[in-house]
Amino acid sequence: MSGASRRNDTPGFAAAVSEDRVARLRHEAHRVLAGNWREGHLADGVAYRYTCPSPPRYRHQWYWDSCFHAIVWSHFDPPRAREELRTLVRGGRLDGFIPHTIFWHDTPGWRRAPLYATDSLRGDRATAHIQTPMLALAWEVVADASADEPGFAGEALDALRLHYDWLEHHRDPDGDGLISIIHPDESGLDDAPKYDEVFGWMSHYMPGYMWLVERSRRLGYDSRSIIDRYEEHVEDVLVNVLYALSLRALARLSGDAAYDARARRTEDALLERCWDPRRGLFWDLAGRGHAPLQISTWSSLSPLALPSLPREIAARLIEEHLLDPRRYRAPYGIPSVSMEEPSFRAGWHLFRCWRGPSWMNTAWLLVPALRRHGYTDDAERIVAGCVELVEAHGFREYYNPLNGEGLAARRFGWSTLLVELLPRTRELRADAEHPPYRGSVRDELLAMGTEAASETYRRLGEGAAAARARLAKLR
Ligand code: GLC
Repeated sequence: MSGASRRNDTPGFAAAVSEDRVARLRHEAHRVLAGNWREGHLADGVAYRYTCPSPPRYRHQWYWDSCFHAIVWSHFDPPRAREELRTLVRGGRLDGFIPHTIFWHDTPGWRRAPLYATDSLRGDRATAHIQTPMLALAWEVVADASADEPGFAGEALDALRLHYDWLEHHRDPDGDGLISIIHPDESGLDDAPKYDEVFGWMSHYMPGYMWLVERSRRLGYDSRSIIDRYEEHVEDVLVNVLYALSLRALARLSGDAAYDARARRTEDALLERCWDPRRGLFWDLAGRGHAPLQISTWSSLSPLALPSLPREIAARLIEEHLLDPRRYRAPYGIPSVSMEEPSFRAGWHLFRCWRGPSWMNTAWLLVPALRRHGYTDDAERIVAGCVELVEAHGFREYYNPLNGEGLAARRFGWSTLLVELLPRTRELRADAEHPPYRGSVRDELLAMGTEAASETYRRLGEGAAAARARLAKLR
């Protein structure tokens, strides 16, 4: 069984959140996934069935979102979970490459197209870059929920092997066991401040990102040449943690111990190269010189999800960081950046994400590790905070960790991962059928305006308080 999540009995949890509330949350999660479900055929007959993250903002199939969606679908409707992952594999190439985003019926319009890392400026069916490769991990979770179709576990082994072999060959040219990302959004943590120093004006939220894409395009997205020629690439801790967990899952699915050995190499490399015993955190390594990116983001804590992590290292990550009120112990969820970092921003941040707010996939990865290491009260405190967030604001893309405000996209698919952290309850009623939710651009703009206004108001308030404090000192 994979180390990342796995269904859990949650002792002590029932007391805090009643079975009725859990049943309602599960019901709502199911409705979100059902409303975001898309299916159809391309003109050439290729079928697709997947969950889009949140229309209208996110209409396509994103690699790691799909893995998260499939994991949650496996609670409600294993056939859909299987279809979601099969569709992802179908979106890949014969050489094992699987794209970050697949557009299916809905190729991006002229305004959005230049922002995607595609081969050409218009008309591609998918991007030419990767996203955190956790497919085998999700495949195993869904296979475990597929008693109705036991053949699922083995049906894509060739494709999965090819995928993980492609990653090793193309993304680990120095052979150190750690794979590299060549664009910041390949980790899924697009605008994380840890990448500012590496990508600079080519960061995901800067205009230079388009040049970064163009540069890769000119080299045909040949990652070995890109890594060889440029300094802007990162051996990312979170990417490698989910890669190692996936290699372990592939070893179990295939019975091939070679993948266990590869996972062990990645885990050892994380320990030997990324662990900083002085600061008690794991750092990404940038460029050919492997310079550590010393900015504390939740990715620095993500090795906690590795069952092989030595206990004393886990204890340091948990006690010195995850549970420290100056760093990651926030009222709501787990912040994506340590609250102590100067770059930490709790709220709305002009189209930049991953610079502070709490996301549900973070809790999904870290809470089971807290439980495993015996910190059950803290684990349940975090889950109870996440429950409050969803009850108050619905399944939003992310939330302000300090005041619990719901932010960005609504009915956001992977926020339903909360279901994985809750005890299983009876279902309120079987309700898979839900008319496709399309969302509205007007509502999106309205929501963004409200978020911007509330952030401006807060900052004005902070500014006024600081001015008052300065005045009081002068008096
Ligand atoms: C944002 C997130 C990324 C996610 C995508 C679709 O870009 O940063 O991780 O895959 O949205 O939900």
